[in-house]
Amino acid sequence: MSMLTRRRLLSRAALSATAGATGTGLRVGGTAATAAVSGGLATGCDADTDPDTDPTGGPQGNLRFPTGFSWGAATSAYQVEGATKEDGRGESVWDTFSRTPGRTRNGDTGDIAADHYHRYADDLDLMRDLGLGSYRFSISWPRIQPDGTGTPNQRGLDFYRRLVDGLHERGISPMATLFHWDLPQTLQDAGGWENRDTAYRFAEYAEVLFRGLGDRVPVWLTINEPKTVVQNGYLHGHHAPGFQDPQAAYLVAHHLQLAHGLAVETLRATDSTARIGPALNLHPCYPADDSAEAAGASHLYDGYENRLYLDSILKGSYPADVLADLGPGSRMARGIRDGDLKTISAPIDLLAVQYYTPYYVTGTGGTVTRWPTSQADWQQIYPDGMYDILTRVTRDYGPVPLTVTENGLPQADTLSPDGTVDDAGRISFLRDHMAAAHRAVTDGVPLESYHVWSLLDNFEWAEGYDQRWGLVYVDYPTQRRVPKRSALWYREVIRANGL
Ligand code: FCB
Repeated sequence: MSMLTRRRLLSRAALSATAGATGTGLRVGGTAATAAVSGGLATGCDADTDPDTDPTGGPQGNLRFPTGFSWGAATSAYQVEGATKEDGRGESVWDTFSRTPGRTRNGDTGDIAADHYHRYADDLDLMRDLGLGSYRFSISWPRIQPDGTGTPNQRGLDFYRRLVDGLHERGISPMATLFHWDLPQTLQDAGGWENRDTAYRFAEYAEVLFRGLGDRVPVWLTINEPKTVVQNGYLHGHHAPGFQDPQAAYLVAHHLQLAHGLAVETLRATDSTARIGPALNLHPCYPADDSAEAAGASHLYDGYENRLYLDSILKGSYPADVLADLGPGSRMARGIRDGDLKTISAPIDLLAVQYYTPYYVTGTGGTVTRWPTSQADWQQIYPDGMYDILTRVTRDYGPVPLTVTENGLPQADTLSPDGTVDDAGRISFLRDHMAAAHRAVTDGVPLESYHVWSLLDNFEWAEGYDQRWGLVYVDYPTQRRVPKRSALWYREVIRANGL
């Protein structure tokens, strides 16, 4: 059975069913990757405390990040904005998907979400009070082009202009993602990402934004996690558009990356000085045991998880093992045209890395759970994976500037009667992952910023509002914002530029 077929059978739910199935004696992941990255890049910060040997298990206030390191938080349009029917916004695939019975937990939709569309000014004040240096948000394509093409909707553009201006007024740098999964439904009806034409529509949409906001957005991210669209949207079907079609999935992988490359080329064709790059969720993959089979399966798994997106964008070729596994007759292989990889590998200015969990791969290509999981049962809590993935990218792909644009933990947070939210688990998660990022910087990784997922509790896709990922608690019935203990802790991290 090819890896592709096996992967089709896996889902986040199935992965979670493996929790606890781990026998003893699994190799501790990451130890192989702890060597300093190649190139001997200068140490960029002080490391007075080694978090690995700190008896309390946490940093003691003397891990400083380099001067100029930026601290931020992230959200995405459909997850926080609400106002899905206002000011000329069109429908997106997530409107359709979440309104379809049985697709999301409790039938939740993003219709109201955190009501950020109306409350953005207060949210901007919250960000200022936290001391954020950077805010990563996404732009809703159907607000800008309700049907995914043609004349832009001025009211949509105005919203993002107000948001971006408000960030600048508060000294916060905007980082805008062009696409965080809310494809206009009209484009989906015309074939969505299976249709090569969607990549060209995306470049047009990107140009509208570069022209409309380019003078005030210094960093653009193209596509958020193409892999999640591929795997969740087209393999497992638990994200929009909800298909289970492996052949379509990898054609979509190609078209998403083509769209990324076309947007990069489009930016270069304007006179903008803004920087641009993709936002990739990367997963360190480790063999689950010492067998040769596990090593081989883990390597191929890494191909599907990481190299399929990294090699194409940073090396200009798709990984041969993945292409071979898909087969020469696959829809993806047949969809690659001359020049596509040149476009996909158009030079980027920075690479956005999103890290949540590692994978441990068995000899038969399955996975096992090695570490405690969070409320999101697919997430194993493994801070060293942050170090491993950051150093690996630098080692294998050279010193491309990196930003962490997502890292975080969901909890069933509750608002206590005294009006506080005590999320100690999130603090220890963030502290350990930041310490791992610091170690990567110390070892020469050119990491320039870090963003917590998420600023606010929000609509967590198929999980609806059940999982709370925010630094700031959202009381949905009243939409009141309450900074959690982690937010107050993060404010001190930002103030100290370290842990
Ligand atoms: C990432 C998504 C983000 C959020 C986090 C928890 O995969 O990019 O929107 O759902 O997971």
